[in-house]
Amino acid sequence: MDIITAVLTRRSASALGAPAPGDEEFRYLLKGAATAPDHGRLRPWRWILVRGDGLTAVADCLADEDPAADREQLVSSVVRAPLKAMLVFTPHVGHRIPEWEQLAAASTMTYSLMLLLHGRGYSSKWRTGRLCTSEALRVRLGLAEQERLLGALDIGTPDPSAVPSARRAPMDVSDRVAVFG
Ligand SMILES: Cc1cc2nc3c(=O)[nH]c(=O)nc-3n(C[C@H](O)[C@H](O)[C@H](O)COP(=O)(O)O)c2cc1C
Repeated sequence: MDIITAVLTRRSASALGAPAPGDEEFRYLLKGAATAPDHGRLRPWRWILVRGDGLTAVADCLADEDPAADREQLVSSVVRAPLKAMLVFTPHVGHRIPEWEQLAAASTMTYSLMLLLHGRGYSSKWRTGRLCTSEALRVRLGLAEQERLLGALDIGTPDPSAVPSARRAPMDVSDRVAVFG
């Protein structure tokens, strides 16, 4: 698949089944994704891979924190893909490269990873919400004080019957470009 085809055909998918990349394949793809622009080459991020019982543990963690929430719904919202790759932002605090640039590097790497996953027939969806705000989850995953959860990539193989409905035409963004001078 050439690059423009990969960019134009990648879509976030909610219905994700097995297989998902194994740990070694994830590391292989990440090596590629980590070539994304990164001012200062700080690699201000890390991933925590969660599967199987780990997914249930994440869901339990969120549910325990919010007893008013519908536990069943919460569990199914977490355990809906075979792999949840939790994205941890690990900023170099006080560094000459400002934090917003480090955040941009983490985001750029993540999109590269999504494209590489797509190129190998997988799909992914970036999920945020409670995953980013739960203190219980931070503790359970062992985050350091300066680290921050940027959510997770749900990763798996897209349900072929669900792909057409998720496909959208690229937006017209010609008005987002100005020519100066
Ligand atoms: C930083 C970020 C956070 C996101 N969080 C969520 C989320 O919590 N739930 C969700 O359904 N989609 C989430 N998305 C996915 C977007 O909704 C999705 O990318 C968008 O609808 C465009 O769809 P596409 O990726 O198929 O082009 C997030 C995307 C980004 C970049």
